[in-house]
Amino acid sequence: MARVALVTGGTRGIGASIAIALADAGYQVAANFGGNAPNAEAFRGVTGIPVFQWDVSDGVATAAGIAKVEAEIGPIEILVNNAGITRDVPLHKMAEQQWSDVIGANLTSCYNTSRVVIDGMRERNFGRIVNISSINGQAGQFGQTNYSAAKAGIIGFTKALALEGARKGITVNAICPGHIDTAMVQAVPKDVLAQIIARIPVGRLGKGEEIARAVVFLVADEAGFITGSTLTINGGQYLT
Ligand code: CAA
Repeated sequence: MARVALVTGGTRGIGASIAIALADAGYQVAANFGGNAPNAEAFRGVTGIPVFQWDVSDGVATAAGIAKVEAEIGPIEILVNNAGITRDVPLHKMAEQQWSDVIGANLTSCYNTSRVVIDGMRERNFGRIVNISSINGQAGQFGQTNYSAAKAGIIGFTKALALEGARKGITVNAICPGHIDTAMVQAVPKDVLAQIIARIPVGRLGKGEEIARAVVFLVADEAGFITGSTLTINGGQYLT
């Protein structure tokens, strides 16, 4: 039986590319989505990948959503924590809601999903968790104290959980994408985006497929010695 992979935020942007690449690599994929049902339905229609709606920042909803995925498809052996949102605004104008929404969707979500699947992974002595962080968690970004904090938090979460999972066959790694050509990045004001692209040595935005390729690499059975790592994929924009 093919291993079951759950991709959060898996019907749009980088997550959709990851879900498609995992399905192409032979995994049984479930794609979670938060709110955009018409988009998710269209994604399911085109790809044949089943979609499941819940809010990953809500622990109770996440437990129920994962239980549904496991009942319909099977135990989750691969988890890709990709779901994320931005609420860009300088700190001096930031409302607490803008802070907590971003921490909830980007960072608490990793706790919510991992907490539910970790027991089964430990019992089966196998698991692959890939957390999608960001260049802006490594470098910081004007207007993103919330997002940069969440994405930096993901790197610490990854390292700690990697240590805990190591003896149980569970690897946990982070990927830090740079600026990828998604709706999230296209929402950046045009003049700001032009300045960002000018600072990317490769000279262009990245593609979702270029992140998905690394996820497929990290979740392979043969990747069992790669854990706790942070893989930077940003066209040379920020060198760690
Ligand atoms: N560095 C330094 N100063 C900056 C700046 C920057 N990057 N951006 C704006 N400023 C300055 C402005 O020039 C302005 O200065 P003055 O008052 O002297 O004119 C001051 O800061 C305030 O600017 P604004 O009035 O424009 O501030 P604002 O309240 O409108 O908010 C912003 C600005 C929301 C931060 C807007 O600039 C923005 O959206 N920037 C893009 C943020 C960004 O890059 N987000 C990443 C999205 S992609 C993503 O998140 C995916 C991923 O993982 C990579």
